[in-house]
Amino acid sequence: MRIAVAGATGNIGARTASFLERAGHEVVPISRSLGVDLITGRGLDAALKGVDAVVDAISSPPVSSDETLAYFGTATRNLLAAEARAGVRHHVLLSIVGLHRIIGGTAHYAGKREQERLIEEGRVPWTIVPATQFHDFGALAGSWTERDGVATIAPLLVQPIAPDDIAQVLAEVATGEPQGRYVDVAGPEPQDLVDMARRTNDVLGRKVKLVPTWSGPLDESMAGNVLLPGENARIAPTTFDQWLAAGARQEEAMDPHEKAKNTRTDLQSITPPFIPAEAEVMTVRIDYPPGDPGIPPHRHPGGPCFGYILEGEMVFEVQGEPPRVVKAGEAFWEPGGDAIHYQDANNRTDSPLRFVVTMLMAPGQPLLVFLDDDELQQSGWVRRSPA
Ligand SMILES: NC(=O)c1ccc[n+]([C@@H]2O[C@H](COP(=O)([O-])OP(=O)(O)OC[C@H]3O[C@@H](n4cnc5c(N)ncnc54)[C@H](OP(=O)(O)O)[C@@H]3O)[C@@H](O)[C@H]2O)c1
Repeated sequence: MRIAVAGATGNIGARTASFLERAGHEVVPISRSLGVDLITGRGLDAALKGVDAVVDAISSPPVSSDETLAYFGTATRNLLAAEARAGVRHHVLLSIVGLHRIIGGTAHYAGKREQERLIEEGRVPWTIVPATQFHDFGALAGSWTERDGVATIAPLLVQPIAPDDIAQVLAEVATGEPQGRYVDVAGPEPQDLVDMARRTNDVLGRKVKLVPTWSGPLDESMAGNVLLPGENARIAPTTFDQWLAAGARQEEAMDPHEKAKNTRTDLQSITPPFIPAEAEVMTVRIDYPPGDPGIPPHRHPGGPCFGYILEGEMVFEVQGEPPRVVKAGEAFWEPGGDAIHYQDANNRTDSPLRFVVTMLMAPGQPLLVFLDDDELQQSGWVRRSPA
């Protein structure tokens, strides 16, 4: 069969794609970093040509609560519409056990409920596979709040499943007939999320102090038994202890390609207007104190620049785009050439801004050229103060 996996570079999508390939199926991988975007629809129709079934294992990037709901909604609408045009016969969604028992919960849960609603109301025959939290969820949930070696985490009762086990179930379901709502799929034993996080961090050699609390992203609406699998659940074999032990061994013996994939976070993928021949490539670090307005408007005549925020927040504005705030851990770029870089101010008055920029410079071109007063007046540009 020809099966598309949306989220094919993700934790579960990559494993699902790999199980399908090993079983002899042709996999069409879908993700933004592979050139197919469920939000904009870029590349989607071409990707679904001749596809029999689609597994949706995407997740929302870290955006605000309102944006999370919209993200899942838009992605699912676009995917289902493209599937209908392509004549896809089976849509499989990786969902979460207990979604409908939780009153409220996180924005992510609201987004998953929206995905389910759209699928149930849609025209493409479907299977929704509710899974419990994955074995790596403890460490993941801790990482959301970790700061200076301390993380808060909710003491959730969960029955976690190994990522490989749920991927295997998805691969099996995708090659069968649509089944509507599938039974809950869970691991073999209940666990306490704080204990999972602590033990995973120990195995990985990470020193993090964990503080149990219900005042965080996972709140009391998820307490008690709500996240545990229902009756007749399908129980996968791998225990949390087995996964931990194997995980430590796998780290040592991991295939370099797998390791490269698993340790990589794609930050930015763009096609700049030009890459000058024989360019010199220079990487610099820039430090602005709190409230610093940055440097005046300028151009990089020698070529495009690519940046990454190490710490703090930047007000970033290039010609043709509204100003936006780029935060620590996010990337940005500008095309260089004639495009004006209006500002790189520190958006915060209470913390420094540090970022790195890699600049391409055509031979003989300066690093940057500031705009003269005439041009500044012509463009009518006024520097904005940082917030
Ligand atoms: N974590 C848990 O314990 C748990 C439990 C049950 C169910 N789930 C569900 O499992 C699903 C998958 O989780 P995961 O941890 O495997 O996610 P993940 O590792 O964060 O992977 C997300 C994938 O989605 C892709 N993606 C995101 N936006 C996209 C877009 N607009 N177009 C195309 N691809 C896009 C990403 O690739 P690009 O960035 O390249 O686009 C990536 O391949 C989630 O929906 C989650 O709700 C999670």
